[in-house]
Amino acid sequence: MDLLPVSFLILIITPLLLLFFLYIYTQQKKNKYHPIGGTVLNMLINFKMLHHYMADLAAKYKTFRMLNPFQGEIYTTDPAIVEYILKTNFENYGKGTFTHTLLEDFLGDGIFTVDGHQWREQRKLASHEFSTKVLRDFSGLTFRKNAVKVGNIFLEAANCNQTVDINDIFMKATADSIFKVAFGVELDNLSGSNKEGVNFSRAFDDSNELTYRRLVDLFWKIKKYLNIGAEAELRKNIKVVDAFVYKVIKTKTKQMQKPQDDFLPKKEDILSRFMQITDRDPKYFRDIILNFVLAGKDPIATTLTWFLYILCKHPEIQDKIDQDIKEAMNMTEDITTVTDFEALLSEDMLEKMHYLHAALAEIIRLYPALPLDPKICFSDDVLPDGCIVKKGDMIAYLPYAMGRMKFIWGEDALDYKPERWLDNNGCFRSESPFKFTAFQAGPRTCLGREFAYRQMKIFSAILLGCFTFKLSNENKVPRYRTTINIQHDGPLDIYVFPRSGLHHNP
Ligand code: HEM
Repeated sequence: MDLLPVSFLILIITPLLLLFFLYIYTQQKKNKYHPIGGTVLNMLINFKMLHHYMADLAAKYKTFRMLNPFQGEIYTTDPAIVEYILKTNFENYGKGTFTHTLLEDFLGDGIFTVDGHQWREQRKLASHEFSTKVLRDFSGLTFRKNAVKVGNIFLEAANCNQTVDINDIFMKATADSIFKVAFGVELDNLSGSNKEGVNFSRAFDDSNELTYRRLVDLFWKIKKYLNIGAEAELRKNIKVVDAFVYKVIKTKTKQMQKPQDDFLPKKEDILSRFMQITDRDPKYFRDIILNFVLAGKDPIATTLTWFLYILCKHPEIQDKIDQDIKEAMNMTEDITTVTDFEALLSEDMLEKMHYLHAALAEIIRLYPALPLDPKICFSDDVLPDGCIVKKGDMIAYLPYAMGRMKFIWGEDALDYKPERWLDNNGCFRSESPFKFTAFQAGPRTCLGREFAYRQMKIFSAILLGCFTFKLSNENKVPRYRTTINIQHDGPLDIYVFPRSGLHHNP
């Protein structure tokens, strides 16, 4: 298809576009529609800074359309509309066949791709698992172990006066954590010792990126059929992913068949626990587990990277967080190793760190891991502002833009201010999920929210309690990559300085 002469395409597309704009114009006259912010071409031109572009449009229109000849597209930052599509009329908005077809090869029928009874069943199973003490304890231990590993890497860099690339380190650390928690497998990306795991990890990330590319490639289905280009690459990567996951599932199945005593200590990971409570084919477990890896890896790494970046810009907030941590830990004396620090940190203490919690919520407001979240409308509808949405239209809420709207957060919306999340007693105060949409809202609200905060608090408490941070280049303007998550683009190098009398003790 890449070889089709451009002039031929222009000849076909131009009259179609004219007809399309005429149709839009007559529709606009008849019914109440949202204002037009631009076209998909504008989005493509502004792709590298897409979220800035959409936030600028949102500041002007709150809710707007972007013209696309193939599909109606509505984007909103209006909390009333968000509440309507995510909760009030939840049944009418979902993934639809469009999203399912796009994601199916990679994520199968996992929780991120399905609606209706398939979603309800997985949601029920997963909600139950996420509330168990076994998973809580097991994941807590895993997060602590990996936070200490990162701490020791930081210490080594500090001793040699070298910078560390926190984007890379957090990506590896969160991959290690979710692998252990999801599969019970020691990936050890941080040291690179498990070759098979590292290969899987790379193939998983590539599959993720290649799948996302389908959104802007109108010819992906033809490429898939012919097995060429990005689609051939995607197929190759999914093969690596599948080989790894099915091997783990086979091993687990064998373990399940062993006598109870033998098996008891091994059923802490999510995969084993799912296998225990439901009897399904390996493909079902493959899909469930890959969706959890996707959910649990990049959002945390992304958030922690932006967190340390913003704290480098606000050294006074680094100190305030350190004070909050030490007060919650009742710590009066200096500690000498990262391991000793971790040993003193209890779950109760984490609960008492209100300022740290507020500082994390504030970074998620400004850099929500999922900056744009689309839904498909299943039947014609009228939104709370009286505007029309048609069956098959895509309507997306914009967590990134919403976090920056003055009409939602006030004049200081763009400032990083943890205090906005605290009440008069210094206790964390949550916000309406239809205003703070980073974790979605309604029946499909993020299942891993508490899990995510706990991991981020453990990492932050250990790292900010032991170190201070400074950007290696204060003048470099950070950029994000326009992918599913708002990942920092490229390395983010920082200098690390140990607090008090810290020294290395692996
Ligand atoms: C800062 C971290 C995180 C953020 C900002 C976040 C945000 C979100 C968002 C926006 C959605 C809705 C996605 C959609 O429309 O399909 C979602 C769904 C979900 N999240 Fe998270 N997430 C985070 C971490 C996690 C973690 C660590 C896990 C678990 C390992 C997790 C598990 C899930 C699951 C299972 C769903 C699907 C819920 C459903 O469809 O019923 N998330 N998350």
